[in-house]
Amino acid sequence: MNWKKYWDRIAINNPHNKISQVQRKDEESTLLTVNHITRILDITREDKVLDVCCGNGIITCEIAKKCNSIIGVDQSENLLKAAKIGAKELNIEYVNGSALKLSELLNGQKFDKIYMQFSFQYFDKKNQGNKVISELLKCLNPNGKIFIGDIPECNKFSEYYNTAMKKLRFYKERLLLKNEMGKFWKVTKIDAICKGFGVKGTYLKQPQECPYSYYRFDYLIEN
Ligand SMILES: C[S@@+](CC[C@H](N)C(=O)[O-])C[C@H]1O[C@@H](n2cnc3c(N)ncnc32)[C@H](O)[C@@H]1O
Repeated sequence: MNWKKYWDRIAINNPHNKISQVQRKDEESTLLTVNHITRILDITREDKVLDVCCGNGIITCEIAKKCNSIIGVDQSENLLKAAKIGAKELNIEYVNGSALKLSELLNGQKFDKIYMQFSFQYFDKKNQGNKVISELLKCLNPNGKIFIGDIPECNKFSEYYNTAMKKLRFYKERLLLKNEMGKFWKVTKIDAICKGFGVKGTYLKQPQECPYSYYRFDYLIEN
């Protein structure tokens, strides 16, 4: 799947609906996610924050109200165009490009808190998980924290594709390179990536009120 084309098309097909543009469930659960990220990263007014794969900025502009400044990075030009429409917060900057080239895109800037929400599944090709985590770490200040939220969990694959028909459809779409879900990650694989970089990685079970807690998990990285 070409994720850049995929998200550019979704943005075009949903010109007026901020929730559908990033395929979120609703406004209420989006605000719940904002509070969840703020709490886990302990975001304060002093923090310089980076939102990786920020989409149309629906979360970025809420986090902006709680921190010193924030940069949102996304490879979809169309979603970033949508992010800029009606944007009121003055402490946000948006940068277009792939998270796989983050440190180059941001000219070596460092951040106190970094998050990537609802997007880690798109790093589905060989070594991309490793590469993107190495890029996140390059952009992190000493004692900073990285939150990776809403990762589909390999062990919970059958809870998402919970009928034979759904599984069959998944395998067919995957063969045709049309699977829209991305990768279901093994926690042990992310643990191994963190170990390789010599940083602390912690699996976080999502609170039940998170809409996708039945098949997704969160992950915290500290250096
Ligand atoms: C489900 S949306 C999530 C948007 C936002 N984080 C949120 O939670 O509302 C996934 C986003 O990941 C972005 N994305 C996927 N692969 C990317 C990559 N390699 N670099 C930058 N952005 C990427 C897409 O363009 C899309 O905006």
